Amino acid sequence: MPLSISLTINGNRHDTLLDDARATLLDVLRERIGLTGTKKGCDRGQCGACTVLVDGRRINACLTLAASVDGATITTIEGLARDGELHPVQAAFIENDGFQCGYCTPGQIMSAVGLIAEGDAGDDPERIREGMSGNICRCAAYPGITQAVLDAQR
Ligand code: FES
Repeated sequence: MPLSISLTINGNRHDTLLDDARATLLDVLRERIGLTGTKKGCDRGQCGACTVLVDGRRINACLTLAASVDGATITTIEGLARDGELHPVQAAFIENDGFQCGYCTPGQIMSAVGLIAEGDAGDDPERIREGMSGNICRCAAYPGITQAVLDAQR
């Protein structure tokens, strides 16, 4: 029996009928809502490519049942820039070459936004690396990523 859920994504309400109650938030975002900025890497909680904010907290969308976040407010990479202006974290990633191939970048940026909002990153690169450790970059752009998080806090 289809399940009705309501999500507020990047400020817009989406009422969605799920045919399968086991649908993940990642698949709903990408395949039902059409927000393909959130990437599917491992689909098992190991790479962080699917990181989004749910009620302001970082989560792996591939491990989250869409039904379990019914009523939540979700921010994806598409929701960061405002009025043509990049979010400071997006700008810092560009400024610091915090990417190479770019596939992990939406997840890295969403994780960085969440980490900064948690107020736990500070100006210690080691703490930032620890805070970002759930986001894997196969190109190993870690120095630029860490510097981008540092810069975005200033
Ligand atoms: Fe979700 Fe890798 S796709 S953690």
